[in-house]
Amino acid sequence: MFESIKDQIKNVKKIVFVTGAGISQESGIPTFRGKDGLWRNYDAMKLATIDAFYENPRLVWEWYNERRKNIFSAHPNNGHKAIAELEKLRDVVVLTQNIDGLHQKAGSSKVLELHGSIVKIKCTVCDFIDEMMTDFSESPPLCKCGNILRPDVVWFGEALPQDVWQKAIIHANQCDLMIIAGTSLAVSPANTLPMYAKQNNALLIEINPENTEMSSEMDLIIRNTSANILPEFISLFKEN
Ligand code: APR
Repeated sequence: MFESIKDQIKNVKKIVFVTGAGISQESGIPTFRGKDGLWRNYDAMKLATIDAFYENPRLVWEWYNERRKNIFSAHPNNGHKAIAELEKLRDVVVLTQNIDGLHQKAGSSKVLELHGSIVKIKCTVCDFIDEMMTDFSESPPLCKCGNILRPDVVWFGEALPQDVWQKAIIHANQCDLMIIAGTSLAVSPANTLPMYAKQNNALLIEINPENTEMSSEMDLIIRNTSANILPEFISLFKEN
């Protein structure tokens, strides 16, 4: 399946992966819009917006506590591991929409978390931000300044962390090859990253069992799962 691109990837130096919930699906973490996706069972507008948080912070905290338990018990799969391994052969950067930290757990060293991280918390008022070390006794937990703490993730209608986003655009604009794995590309601005890569004439490859919002823009589409395909794909670079 890679025959058509073997020659093109010979000269690839910088590779950027854009990943989403699908790459962690085989680690037991549900996607958002897939068959048993979270947004099929929960109302995103009741759980993942700042208004929903202020309306019922206890509910939102309980939901993130459940997700955190699921994520903390998950392990990187062959998809995450293959990307980490490729770092030994090429300049690799991961731009992920995932908040689960599994790329880093697999050993990837250059990971930009576009939508934040479930292990981090921040104050809704002061500039306190930290890793969540223990479970809180009270819900919602309070900051030492007395205001409520929130998960350090990006909710619908919120801007991405600007320093992270600016760096992501630069990496996308500099890459020779962009692999879009496990994301529906339904959410912006992350779904504009392939366009930045295209501006640099990068090769675009989509790894996803299903069509995405931008399948028509891709140079190569592989309708399979990331844990199945990525180890095989990485082996191409060992040959070169
Ligand atoms: N391997 C590869 N792709 C997969 C796999 C798999 N094993 N399983 C599912 N997929 C694909 C699905 O076909 C789908 O296209 O992964 C994609 C997951 O899409 P979404 O559920 O929309 O998740 P994502 O693209 O990460 O969502 C973006 O939306 O809800 C917000 O902030 C949240 O970061 C998230 C953003």
